[in-house]
Order: sequence, then C-alpha cells, then structure tokens
Amino acid sequence: MTSDQSDHGGNGEKDGSRREFLKAAAAVSGVLAVAGIASVMKSVVIPSVPAPSPSSFPRVKVSSLSELSAGKAVNFNYPLDNEPNLLVKLGQKAEGGVGPEGDIVAFSQICQHLGCIWDYVPQGGSPEVNHSYVASQPVGYCPCHGSVYALTQGAKVIGGPSPRPQPQVQLEVDGSGDIYAVGMGPPAVFSHHTGSNDVTYDLQGGTEVT
Ligand code: FES
Repeated sequence: MTSDQSDHGGNGEKDGSRREFLKAAAAVSGVLAVAGIASVMKSVVIPSVPAPSPSSFPRVKVSSLSELSAGKAVNFNYPLDNEPNLLVKLGQKAEGGVGPEGDIVAFSQICQHLGCIWDYVPQGGSPEVNHSYVASQPVGYCPCHGSVYALTQGAKVIGGPSPRPQPQVQLEVDGSGDIYAVGMGPPAVFSHHTGSNDVTYDLQGGTEVT
C-alpha cells in the first residue's frame, strides 16, 4: 500500500466516524427536543377542574323582578358567605337567563384565572382600570390581567388569560317575582386570590348562606 492509499483509507475511516458521530448527535438532540417539548407541554397543561362540591345547594333569595332594571347589578355571596357573585339584568336575552326577557343572569365573581374579582361592564362601557377598552357586549372584566367574560354567553372567555368560563349561578323566579339562587353550574369556583400562585378550587372556608 502506498502512502497515498493509506491516507485515503485513513480519511475514509475518519469520514465514517464523523458520519456516525453526527448521526448519534442528531439522535440525542432529537430526544432532548422531544423531552423539552414534553416538559413545556407539562407546564402549560390546564389541570382538570372538579364540579362545585356541595351535593345540594341552598335556595336563597337574591333580588326580585321589581328591584331590577336593565343594567342593574346586585352583589351577593353564594353558596358560602365568602363566595362573591354578581347578578345582573343585561337588557338582552342571555344563555341561562331568567325573568320575562330571559336577561337576568348571575355568575361567580372570582376570576377563573388567578382569583381576582371581576367587574360588570355594560355594552358600550369601559372598565375603570382600562378606559381604552370599550365593551362591544355586556361583559365581566377582570382588573388584574384583563380577562373578559361574555355575560350573554355563559360567561365564556372572549379575552385575556383566563382558561375557563365563570361558574354560573342557577336562578329561579317564583310567582311573586322573587329571584332565588338555587345552585351553581361547573366549573368549580376558583379559590380566592391569596397573592401567591394559588391554583386550587374550592367551596370551602366559609359558612353556607341561608
Ligand atoms: S385574575 Fe383575573 S385575569 Fe388574572
């Protein structure tokens, strides 16, 4: 074998080793990439949310048809005395609405993002914390991070970071026009904002409203 052939043989071996090395490196980086994606996915997975926990809810008078006019909101605690909700006569038919116009609805007011208390903003209005936002429909607007809930559509999320709609309070109107809270639909009521990254859901820590 000439020194020339020997050099070619050596280069061939080197090329082969380089190819094997590059293949192995590509395989390892592929595994790392998948692991990285899995890790990111894990961090953004939204936890499953239990339904509200009481097996039976109290029946509590909240307002009456005669006390409400379009745009009027009433705050009340339900089903526990530390769980704020907002009842409002929207002036337009709403999903789950009661009353002659089907426009009276109520929702938990504890934001499903991180537990702040959202405010009612009528159509055409702006929240106190953000005058540049003009509501194109009646909404719940959270002052903390700007989640927006469409109150005629079961408080579904139409803006901001909230991952879920607000739990809707089930209402009934009796023969004399009194409006009662009789239950709450899913998802569970988010726990109160504690200033930490609290991600629990509860109907605890308060006394049942009667
Ligand atoms: S707590 Fe309501 S948007 Fe963040």
